[in-house]
Order: sequence, then structure tokens, then C-alpha cells
Amino acid sequence: MPHPRRIEGYAIVSEDGMLADAAGTMPDSLKFEADKRFFERGLDGVDVVIHGRHSHEQQPHSDRRRRLVVTRAVPTLAPDPSYPKALRWNPAGATLDEALTALGAPEAIVGVVGGTDVFGMFLDIYDVFHLSRAPNVQLPGGRPGLSGCAGADAGSGACGHGLEPAERQMLDQARGVSLVSWRRP
Ligand SMILES: NC(=O)c1ccc[n+]([C@@H]2O[C@H](COP(=O)([O-])OP(=O)(O)OC[C@H]3O[C@@H](n4cnc5c(N)ncnc54)[C@H](OP(=O)(O)O)[C@@H]3O)[C@@H](O)[C@H]2O)c1
Repeated sequence: MPHPRRIEGYAIVSEDGMLADAAGTMPDSLKFEADKRFFERGLDGVDVVIHGRHSHEQQPHSDRRRRLVVTRAVPTLAPDPSYPKALRWNPAGATLDEALTALGAPEAIVGVVGGTDVFGMFLDIYDVFHLSRAPNVQLPGGRPGLSGCAGADAGSGACGHGLEPAERQMLDQARGVSLVSWRRP
């Protein structure tokens, strides 16, 4: 059976662990050049991007990437008319291996870019989750980085999925934006 070679997650959350505000929008206050550069470099190294309908990464190389758009709007897998090289994927009707095989990338390196529920689907199989945090941003009532893991634990091994903090980086000293790469030991 084919299997993805690696699964990586990418998110930035507010101090209170939210990836979007109460309206479901990612506010400008959560957008930082240094984090965008890290995110872009990361996705340039993956073969397939996975996200929900509202979570496209919007980068210069986006059109080159194969992608799976997670949705309940199709029973299994279907071409996605919105993006080149993309399939709509309903995980209830087709496995990840089937979806990657249909994309022609059965042993892909996969980058998961959200939102909340889509991140949550891979919690037990991420090899690494790159979680940035903006300490001076609060988004009360917003969408948590990972369901059931709001607050300081968002995206972390503390949520009980076996990821442990590995590399730490300061992305933007002036604004305190830091990144922890949570890895599966
Ligand atoms: N800060 C960050 O790092 C970050 C990361 C990602 C996103 N965001 C922001 O978060 C906001 C969107 O968040 P969102 O959570 O609404 O994300 P989303 O990416 O739109 O994901 C939600 C959609 O995924 C599909 N979905 C979810 N669970 C599913 C399941 N079990 N089976 C099949 N399909 C499923 C559904 O699509 P259908 O409705 O088509 O069925 C659902 O509407 C945007 O503002 C985005 O910019 C921020």
C-alpha cells in the first residue's frame, strides 16, 4: 500500500491559540513577513498541499502545487475546478493513500495548512507540526489552532497526540513572533 513519505503541518496562532477571528477570518494582525517566508519555504519543499475550502496558502508558487481540498461536497474524489492540479477530497469516502494515488503522488511529502478541522484530521500521523505564535495578538471567540486544543496548548504535544517540542526559532524579534517545530519522537 502506498503511504505518504512525510506529513507536515503549518499554522500561526494568536497568544490565545486561535488561527482566525470570531468571524472565521485570518486578521492582518496575525500576518508577519518572517512567518510568511518560513511558510513559503516549507511549502516549496512539499509535493502535495492539503486544506479546506477557506485555507488556500496564496503564495507565488501555489499554481505549481498538487493539492487536496477537503470537503463534504463530493462523495469521494473529484477534480477541483477552482485550482489547477487539485482534487476535492472527502476523507469519509476515500483514504489519504487513495487520494494521493489519484493525484499521482502516492509517496508524497504532504503539507497540511488548515483550517482547524483539517489540521485535526492528521493529529496522530504528523511527522512535524510547525507552530508559530504571535504573543501580542488576542482573538477571543476565534477558531482554535486545533480543535479541543485552544489556549497555550494549541498544536502541541500537550494535546496528547505524541508530538514533542523540538527546534525553536525567533521569527520576528521586535514583535516576539516565535516558532516551535513539534516532532514525533
Ligand atoms: N493562522 C493560520 O495558520 C491559518 C491556517 C489555516 C486557515 N486559517 C484561516 O482560518 C479560516 C478558515 O478556517 P476553517 O476552519 O473554516 O477552514 P477551512 O479550511 O475552510 O476548513 C473547513 C472546511 O473543510 C471541510 N471539512 C472540514 N471537516 C471535514 C470533514 N471531516 N470531512 C470533509 N470535509 C471537511 C468543509 O468543507 P465543505 O464546507 O466544502 O464541506 C469545511 O467547510 C480562514 O480565515 C483562514 O485564512 C488560518
